[in-house]
Amino acid sequence: MQNLEAALKAARKYTYLPFSLHFFERVSSTNQTLWNLLNQGAISGTVVIATVQSAGRGQWGRQWISPVGGLYISVAISFDHKIEATDSYQLTFATAWGIASQLRQCGVDVGIKWPNDLVLNGRKLGGILTETKVNKGQITQAVIGVGINWTNPVPETGINLESWQASQDFRPITCLEMLTSKVLLGIESGMECLCQEGVKVLLSRYLDLLINMGDRVYVNNISGKVVGVTPQGNLRVDLETYNTKELITPEIYIEPGTISLGYHKSSV
Ligand code: BTN
Repeated sequence: MQNLEAALKAARKYTYLPFSLHFFERVSSTNQTLWNLLNQGAISGTVVIATVQSAGRGQWGRQWISPVGGLYISVAISFDHKIEATDSYQLTFATAWGIASQLRQCGVDVGIKWPNDLVLNGRKLGGILTETKVNKGQITQAVIGVGINWTNPVPETGINLESWQASQDFRPITCLEMLTSKVLLGIESGMECLCQEGVKVLLSRYLDLLINMGDRVYVNNISGKVVGVTPQGNLRVDLETYNTKELITPEIYIEPGTISLGYHKSSV
C-alpha cells in the first residue's frame, strides 16, 4: 500500500482524481464494495482493491473468476459536467485507452478489443466493467471496475502479464503495485482526456489502439468491414452489398454484446 501511494505520488505532477485507496483481502465484488462505500458518503476518487473476489462481475451478467494473483480494482468517478446515460460507454473507452496507453508507454504492447477488452499477444489480458447511477437520464456517479491478469491462471483465450513478461527479454512491470499504479494513472488520464479534450479526441485515440479496425465481419451473412465506433459505443460497420449490379456500402451500427469479435492480432 505504501509502495503504491509512493508510486502514484512520484508519477503525478498534479492530481485530476483525488485517489483514496481502500484494500480488502476478500470481497464479493470490488464494484459492489465501492457502491456500498459511496452509499455511506465516499467521494469521487475512492478506490477499492481486493486480493480475491468471490463473485466478481463481468460484462453482460457474466462472472469474472477472481483468484489470488489478479488485479481487481474499482474507482468511483463523478462529473462536474453532465454525461448522458446513453454515453456511458465513453467511460469504458476512456478507461481502456488510458490503461492501454500507460502500459504501452512501459513497453507492454497492449491493444483494445471492442468494446472493453485489453488484449496482449492476441489474448485477453483484462476487462473493464463500468456501472452507473443515473438520475433524469444523466450519470450522477460511476464505478469503473478493472480486472487484469497478473499471475493468476487464465482460460485458453486469456494471458497473464507475468507469463508474457517471462517470454520477453525485459520485465517492465516489476510488481503488482506497479501494475496497479499504471491502471490508476490510466483511468485518470482517460477521464481527463474525455472531460478536457472531448469525446472526438478520445475516440480517435481509442481507435488508434483498437485491434478490430478493418476486420471483416458478417452480419446476417452479409460481409462488412469494421470502420470505427460511435460515441454511444456501437461498432460502425460498412456492409458490402449490391444494389442491382452496383456495390454499395451502407454503414450500420452494432450494439455491444450482440456480435463477438476475435482475439486475432497481437498488436495494433
Ligand atoms: C469483462 O467482462 O471483461 C469485464 C470484467 C471486469 C472485472 C472487474 S474485476 C474488478 C471489478 N469488480 C468486479 O466485480 N468486476 C470488475
